[in-house]
Amino acid sequence: MDKNSVYRTNIIGAGEVGSAISVDMDKNSIHKTNSIFWDTKGNEIIGATALPFYGAFVSEEKCQLFGDVSGKKMLEIGCGTGHSLQYQGERNAAELWAVDISEKQIEKAAQHLKARGLSAKLICSPMEEECGLPADYFDFVYSVYAIGWTTDLDGTFSRIASYLKKDGVFIFSWSHPIHKCVAAENNTLAFKKCYFDESWYSVSLDDGEITLSDRKLSTYVNALAKAGFVIEQLIEESDDDLMQPQGGNSDFAKKAKMLPVTFVIKARKL
Ligand SMILES: C[S@@+](CC[C@H](N)C(=O)[O-])C[C@H]1O[C@@H](n2cnc3c(N)ncnc32)[C@H](O)[C@@H]1O
Repeated sequence: MDKNSVYRTNIIGAGEVGSAISVDMDKNSIHKTNSIFWDTKGNEIIGATALPFYGAFVSEEKCQLFGDVSGKKMLEIGCGTGHSLQYQGERNAAELWAVDISEKQIEKAAQHLKARGLSAKLICSPMEEECGLPADYFDFVYSVYAIGWTTDLDGTFSRIASYLKKDGVFIFSWSHPIHKCVAAENNTLAFKKCYFDESWYSVSLDDGEITLSDRKLSTYVNALAKAGFVIEQLIEESDDDLMQPQGGNSDFAKKAKMLPVTFVIKARKL
């Protein structure tokens, strides 16, 4: 996959959030807005973010969170175009499953995997809802830049725990919440948004629109604990080697030298 595409995820930073419009938390309308975005403009505007990259400047090649996945049953939440499923399939995972809210993304993932001789069970559904996934079945559930789209973090983590076997592993990445608060401007970093503000907002991106909320890191940690997970690793560091190709002097790279732009959590079901 195009290495540069992993950086585009982070165009949604404090600059865009600064021009956001507050909206009510209405699950159905949020799902409608976001699935239209991912059915139409999503990849053009945000690109794809897939393993071995967890997002900007963090890679599985360096972090080695999965270890050997051969023979393992894997479920991806918010699989998008299917590139991370390909990554796991090429590492000899026994079963590939995924859920995504967007019919178009599921279609792209199916085509992508078929062209590479891989098969996967792909389910079009919001991650928050019952969609026929088996309980106590998976060795790994993982998600690359998709968990933050959920309208119900506690419910989603509780569902994910139910899909995993005991001692199964859940790994996910998302935009670091501090990245959403701070913008690089004229060689300084400026706070644009309150870190504690988890309210929902809509942002226009080109011709598309998304609705999101920026949760605090503690909200993710506490929701994991509530769902019965123990955290084994939290990654906040950017990898210098990955910043170089983007040009060490871009506003984004300057920002990434001062604060985390991506976080990754590895947790285990107790
Ligand atoms: C930034 S993409 C990441 C996808 C994937 N890692 C890739 O490389 O394409 C986010 C994905 O989450 C999906 N998504 C958004 N809201 C969702 C929800 N509530 N339930 C399930 N999937 C959702 C989108 O359709 C999109 O495919």
